[in-house]
Amino acid sequence: MKIDLYEKVWMIGTGTMLAVFFSVIAYESVAMGRMPPSHVETIDPKAVMTDARFAPQGVRVGTDGSVHAHVVGLTFTWLPGEMTLPAGLPVTFHITSIDVTHGYQIVRTNAQSMVIPGYVSQFTTTFDPGDYLIVCNEYCGVGHHTMYAKLKVVPAEQWQAPGGAPATTTTAATEAGHEH
Ligand code: CUA
Repeated sequence: MKIDLYEKVWMIGTGTMLAVFFSVIAYESVAMGRMPPSHVETIDPKAVMTDARFAPQGVRVGTDGSVHAHVVGLTFTWLPGEMTLPAGLPVTFHITSIDVTHGYQIVRTNAQSMVIPGYVSQFTTTFDPGDYLIVCNEYCGVGHHTMYAKLKVVPAEQWQAPGGAPATTTTAATEAGHEH
């Protein structure tokens, strides 16, 4: 069989690229443990509302002072509908869905994750002060476009941890150049 020279060049070039890309993906997932943030922790979607991780939803502070946001997605809303978080401190989001796949996106940031029933998506990020809009970026049904929530980020020293205890914000306040 005679193969034209240019065709051969394209075939070899394309084959090489595929081999390189596949090797990079295989290396990252096997050697570096890279995977989507939504495929690590599982949960029974029917029991989310009584699961200690999501009942109640909202902001919690760990015993080590770490800040966590626990969010549930359902057609067509995010629970809670509004959260207040401290600026400059790492916040870890734990998000799950009780029905279909949604997409949690904090507009004007690079924070976003697919939200898949049966799994808990997790990522950690920090914010600048301001008001943020959270939308659903994964088509989930007729009310998809109405699925949003609000996020308020205030300077860490003004932030009140849920339950009224003051935040441990010494580091953040120093970083921001404020006197404490
Ligand atoms: Cu939820 Cu689109």
